[in-house]
Amino acid sequence: MNNSSKYNKDTLYAQAHEAIGAFQFDESVVAVFPDMIQRSVPGYQTILAGIGELTQQHAQPHSNLYDLGCSLGAATLTMRRNVEGKQCQIIALDNSESMIKRAQEYLHAYHSEVPVHLHCADMTQFKIENASVVVINFTLQFIDPDQREALLKTIYQGLNPGGILIVSEKLHFEDDALQTSIEHLHLQFKRANGYSELEISQKRSSLENVLITDTEQDHLKRFKKVGFQSAGIWFQAYNFASFLAIKAF
Ligand SMILES: C[S@@+](CC[C@H](N)C(=O)[O-])C[C@H]1O[C@@H](n2cnc3c(N)ncnc32)[C@H](O)[C@@H]1O
Repeated sequence: MNNSSKYNKDTLYAQAHEAIGAFQFDESVVAVFPDMIQRSVPGYQTILAGIGELTQQHAQPHSNLYDLGCSLGAATLTMRRNVEGKQCQIIALDNSESMIKRAQEYLHAYHSEVPVHLHCADMTQFKIENASVVVINFTLQFIDPDQREALLKTIYQGLNPGGILIVSEKLHFEDDALQTSIEHLHLQFKRANGYSELEISQKRSSLENVLITDTEQDHLKRFKKVGFQSAGIWFQAYNFASFLAIKAF
């Protein structure tokens, strides 16, 4: 999202906290979210641009496009710009009321013919139907691991033949040496973006047991298990990757 100037710099963990609570997508996070995601996720803007390109390629006329865990609507915006003239609608949802409220204001600030329906809802309980593009951008990692396969199955069933699912995630690696080395690259990325050691360690504590990563192999196995014949990584920066899964015609 390029409107960072409307939002504040992320200093949520800059001061020492006596106790670190579990990370929540509340009002304080909403106020700094574009800055936080930009400075924490390598390749975030490239992934958004790719989501636009993939939408242009795969969106089917008169179908639904979904942005599950939309936060402020960055992926919705890029999909909306790339689906003009196909009589599609975009359905974007997030279970944080604060996020949905701000996403509403943000999306309404830009004109478009493409209807966007925003819902404050839990994606594991939401019906997916007549879908040609489904995006889960850095959100599956916040869903209970036991619910991930069922969610993907629901998405697979709601996709039209030829439809796609894009899933972007932080990954971990089974191999300890790889994990240490690639995680170091990510930490250096955060340091280079101005995060202090205190901010990095307090944020890490708050995300413990909240953001639960899978490996690349976990993701690929799950895509196959729920029915996708084609699935692979289309973009990776360090331990952050975006997968493309295509439902066969
Ligand atoms: C890292 S953010 C997603 C970023 C966003 N997709 C983007 O591209 O900018 C994760 C979002 O998922 C939402 N979320 C977490 N669990 C959810 C659930 N069960 N259903 C819907 N949204 C959920 C959070 O409220 C948060 O806004």
